[in-house]
Amino acid sequence: MNPKSLCFIVLVAIFGVFASRVVINTIPQVLRYIVDFTISLSSWSPIVVKFIPFNFDSLRRHRKHHDKDKPVSICDDFPPNFPPPETNTTLTLCVDRNGCFNFTTVQAAIDAVPNLSIKRTVIWINSGIYYEKVIIPKTKPNITFQGQGYTSTAIAWNDTALSANGTFYSGSVQVFSTNFIAKNISFMNVAPIRRPGVVGAQAVAIRISGDQAAFWGCGFFGAQDTLHDDRGRHYFKDCYIQGSIDFIFGNGKSLYEDCQMLSMANPVAPGSKSISGAVTAHGRSSADENSGFAFVNCSVGGTGRIWLGRAWRPFSRVVFAFTSLTDIIAPEGWNDFNDPTRDQSIFYGEYNCTGAGANMSGRAPYVQRLNDTQASLFLTTSFIDGDQWLLSYHT
Ligand SMILES: *[C@@H]1O[C@H](CO)[C@@H](O)[C@H](O)[C@H]1NC(C)=O
Ligand SMILES: *[C@@H]1O[C@H](CO)[C@@H](O)[C@H](O)[C@H]1NC(C)=O
Ligand SMILES: *[C@@H]1O[C@H](CO)[C@@H](O)[C@H](O)[C@H]1NC(C)=O
Ligand SMILES: *[C@@H]1O[C@H](CO)[C@@H](O)[C@H](O)[C@H]1NC(C)=O
Ligand SMILES: *[C@@H]1O[C@H](CO)[C@@H](O)[C@H](O)[C@H]1NC(C)=O
Ligand SMILES: *[C@@H]1O[C@H](CO)[C@@H](O)[C@H](O)[C@H]1NC(C)=O
Ligand SMILES: *[C@@H]1O[C@H](CO)[C@@H](O)[C@H](O)[C@H]1NC(C)=O
Ligand SMILES: *[C@@H]1O[C@H](CO)[C@@H](O)[C@H](O)[C@H]1NC(C)=O
Ligand SMILES: *[C@@H]1O[C@H](CO)[C@@H](O)[C@H](O)[C@H]1NC(C)=O
Ligand SMILES: *[C@@H]1O[C@H](CO)[C@@H](O)[C@H](O)[C@H]1NC(C)=O
Ligand SMILES: *[C@@H]1O[C@H](CO)[C@@H](O)[C@H](O)[C@H]1NC(C)=O
Repeated sequence: MNPKSLCFIVLVAIFGVFASRVVINTIPQVLRYIVDFTISLSSWSPIVVKFIPFNFDSLRRHRKHHDKDKPVSICDDFPPNFPPPETNTTLTLCVDRNGCFNFTTVQAAIDAVPNLSIKRTVIWINSGIYYEKVIIPKTKPNITFQGQGYTSTAIAWNDTALSANGTFYSGSVQVFSTNFIAKNISFMNVAPIRRPGVVGAQAVAIRISGDQAAFWGCGFFGAQDTLHDDRGRHYFKDCYIQGSIDFIFGNGKSLYEDCQMLSMANPVAPGSKSISGAVTAHGRSSADENSGFAFVNCSVGGTGRIWLGRAWRPFSRVVFAFTSLTDIIAPEGWNDFNDPTRDQSIFYGEYNCTGAGANMSGRAPYVQRLNDTQASLFLTTSFIDGDQWLLSYHT
């Protein structure tokens, strides 16, 4: 196992510990250390080794011990007939860092996908951290990223708004095509955490600008604005999303189900009313747009004193339903971007949330406690017209 792979496991293992909320107060320091560690890739400390709980190459289980005469290569362990042959509906391309298949980088596989293919191309990505910037152009619809688990496979890069000429281009992965699917993989931006207020420090993990994208069991790791849910209808299920300021932002129309949001915002002194982050910054700019973010059966925890959302654009629309909120949520809950003219046009709703952060008695006046009828529009995949496209994605 090379040091790069090892350090990824360590990184993810520690994020897993964060998620357990047992050591929540130690997040920023540990993360800073791990992030620097990941980027330097030059040495590693024995301190972190004890966090390794993963079996790195899941497919190695198939190793045949009786074949003692044959030299064993790390590439011998895949099941026979893998990858599956091309069919008239699906082409599978395999990516492996060790060179067991045709591609050692994700981008090389994308480059090999035929333009404007009607077929689905499954890009199967073996365990490991793929340290590269990945762009899926508009001409490559119907791509699936199949990882080996969000704690085993990840794509990471370290652009910032400054290095990429704007926040919108800082994403480690940028999806411009339609019908994108990702399963069991993580997207990371590992740029070093900067002090708040530093110009150009925004660092996005993924930008999703194509319609009809879906994510199952994925991780989104960043230090601030992690997930650029830019435009189109998107579905997120069983995902883990970490960030601090506006960590889910954009003008998408998206349903987040059973997802865990972890704030890494700076802790705030007890009694202080200052705010150190926000979960969402939805960018709906006019009443004509039907975009919005809906969170159903999710959880929000972590550090800082944060808002559920702030009104990046005047018609910002976000709903949290059946979601557990810890006491890091400020009593007012939301923010109109300090522009009271937006209070008439923003739509911020809460419905049957639980936890210390769900107490609505101190909420800003424009925040709505939704009734059953109002909430029903946001609670199921029909919010994103899922019956038209999402059903076929499960196969
Ligand atoms: C796939 O191709 C086979 C022949 O190669 C054909 O019999 C089958 O009907 C095709 N299926 C679809 C869905 O087009
Ligand atoms: C992958 O490699 C095999 C043989 O090594 C070759 O037949 C096949 O065309 C390659 N596929 C792609 C998409 O390059
Ligand atoms: C797709 O189109 C681009 C630009 O039109 C071209 O450069 C590229 O080679 C094409 N890729 C494939 C796999 O055909
Ligand atoms: C591939 O993409 C095209 C255009 O977006 C779409 O019409 C087609 O149904 C897609 N095919 C699959 C298998 O999803
Ligand atoms: C990203 O990492 C590389 C190599 O570790 C480094 O040279 C580069 O400056 C970093 N970029 C940013 C924007 O921090
Ligand atoms: C960066 O963005 C500016 C303004 O949007 C543009 O004029 C410039 O050409 C861009 N530079 C690069 C390298 O993309
Ligand atoms: C994703 O991972 C989970 C657990 O790690 C597993 O149960 C599931 O089958 C995987 N799904 C896909 C599509 O890879
Ligand atoms: C809510 O989310 C939890 C954890 O993600 C999951 O175990 C449970 O089944 C979900 N409940 C519903 C009603 O979807
Ligand atoms: C949700 O809360 C509303 C009141 O806001 C209540 O009438 C309704 O019974 C609750 N629904 C569920 C499923 O808990
Ligand atoms: C909600 O907050 C108000 C004011 O801070 C407090 O009086 C009330 O007891 C709280 N309600 C619950 C259920 O904790
Ligand atoms: C729910 O709220 C809407 C908007 O305030 C209102 O028009 C509707 O009558 C309410 N429905 C119920 C069942 O209370």
